[in-house]
Amino acid sequence: MVNEEKNEMVVTPWEVKGKVDYERLIKEFGTQPLTDELLEKLTKYTGELHPQLRRKLFFSHRDLDTVLNLYDKGLKFVLYTGRGPSGPVHIGHLVPWIFTKHLQEKFKTRLYFQMTDDEKFVVEDELKLEETTKYAYENALDLIALGFEPEDTFIIFDVQDIHLLYDIALEVAKRITYSTAKATFGFQDSTNIGWIFWPAIQAVPCFIHAKLTGENVPALIPAAIDQDPYWRVTRDVAQKLGYYKPAQIHCRFLPGLGIGGKMSASEPETSIFTTDSPESVKRKIWNAFTGGKGTATEQRKTGAEPNICTIFQYYYYLFEESDKKLTEKERRCRNGEILCGECKMDLAERVNRFLAEHQKKREKARKIVEKFHIKH
Ligand code: TRP
Repeated sequence: MVNEEKNEMVVTPWEVKGKVDYERLIKEFGTQPLTDELLEKLTKYTGELHPQLRRKLFFSHRDLDTVLNLYDKGLKFVLYTGRGPSGPVHIGHLVPWIFTKHLQEKFKTRLYFQMTDDEKFVVEDELKLEETTKYAYENALDLIALGFEPEDTFIIFDVQDIHLLYDIALEVAKRITYSTAKATFGFQDSTNIGWIFWPAIQAVPCFIHAKLTGENVPALIPAAIDQDPYWRVTRDVAQKLGYYKPAQIHCRFLPGLGIGGKMSASEPETSIFTTDSPESVKRKIWNAFTGGKGTATEQRKTGAEPNICTIFQYYYYLFEESDKKLTEKERRCRNGEILCGECKMDLAERVNRFLAEHQKKREKARKIVEKFHIKH
């Protein structure tokens, strides 16, 4: 997608800009909407719908129905997701990981988690390899802090574990032409050749389970929809290599605290990092963009607009699980019964309570990272 106007939507694996129109992405990427019927089928295995499904955070998929049908017939699947370690983890990154953990618990499946220190090194001009490798380790602590099962969770640190990936990467790379890669990823003459080969590496964890265990089962990938181009090329080669096409379940981006766009590590004041101090969380939330009015008097009279408010989004996405309480908050906001200051202070408190726990678990994770590291 070309960025012709200022607020034009751009969604690629490397850049998300402008106002994201998720319906349009479903059409342009050629994915399927997550229908109520499919969600109901999912609850057969999971019991209640996970809040992230109820709130339509996950909104699109490829082949989730196929994977569930195969599961009905007794064929398991594995989960696969990952992270490009270009900096510290922010709260938005945790969203799909929390959902992945729910799937792991309900389906008792393995998770392969790829830390792409190689990708971030070739793609980001200013990052050194030691830096992305260091972030890969630091970011793994955040994943582990969420409580994944060590017996069923396999973190792949790309640079360190490349020998496990390289044979499959070659098989994949040989079957993707430069013209397909160019059309899918928008590569230019000036793109470095490390980046051009790289999509073959992101494909590997879709297939690695067969090599490690002898079981050929499909992979289901919970991830933000910007990763979809990778899966398009992977799906094209899967069957040629004797594997199932990987399935996906796609989520939205957690917006930053500024106007528009997703939470981005490159704009630190609009992102809440998992390592932030309580004071910086308060400051960032205090300065956030809301749907409030110019003065308290005006807001009490006319109410505010939760639909454009970044603070409300945080309650919606992560910090208010009760639908009843959320609706009540929304109503009070629209009616001017609650002002932005109060709402911000309440959110900052919830975020800080969550982070205090998370930071403790994150430190404990340092001692057990190796238990999660794929065998090498
Ligand atoms: N390319 C992803 C990123 O930059 C990292 C990644 C690798 C990933 N494998 C994945 C993300 C699988 C989601 C699912 O963040």
